[in-house]
Amino acid sequence: MKTLVAYFSHVGENLQNNEIVELTKGNTEIVAEKIASLTGADLYKIEEEEPYPFKYDDCVRRARREDENNEKPAMKGGVRLNMDEYDTVYIGFPIWYRTYPRIVSTFLSAYDFSNKKIRPFCTNDEGTFGISLLEMQGTLKNAKISDGLAIRGVDVRNADERIETYVKG
Ligand SMILES: Cc1cc2nc3c(=O)[nH]c(=O)nc-3n(C[C@H](O)[C@H](O)[C@H](O)COP(=O)(O)O)c2cc1C
Repeated sequence: MKTLVAYFSHVGENLQNNEIVELTKGNTEIVAEKIASLTGADLYKIEEEEPYPFKYDDCVRRARREDENNEKPAMKGGVRLNMDEYDTVYIGFPIWYRTYPRIVSTFLSAYDFSNKKIRPFCTNDEGTFGISLLEMQGTLKNAKISDGLAIRGVDVRNADERIETYVKG
């Protein structure tokens, strides 16, 4: 059985140290690639059919609408992984509004994660998972969800040690 690293990450304006900055590579993507290289896992980028806006304010507006309406935005490429191949799945996302973006909800609902080991990781501006892990537990009732790794966006490039410890743990 194999390991998968599935993640969503947004390129564009983002919140860093409470300021809007433009990122050319997503924070979560940096962590996802590091985990995949340490584990030899397959790497899969969760992408939205209708791109989230580049501008922070527009992105916040869309994220809030999707969150308030419990939307399930469509995934680009649809459901195309063979989840049966994997027994361990790392799932990575930025925190938007105290939880994962709704495109990650779409991903979690699209596959059967029963009895799989789930290893969540997130990046954010404040350093916690918010309510995302609780939400994930509610959605993936038959999965074995382990403790997660939360890294602040400003720290992702200096987090190698934490990532290595997490992967080994
Ligand atoms: C729409 C939006 C909402 C966000 N909401 C939060 C939040 O509630 N709490 C937080 O700590 N960071 C929040 N952030 C900051 C991101 O979580 C942080 O910049 C993260 O590292 C971005 O990861 P990415 O580059 O992989 O998308 C938000 C960012 C965006 C774009």
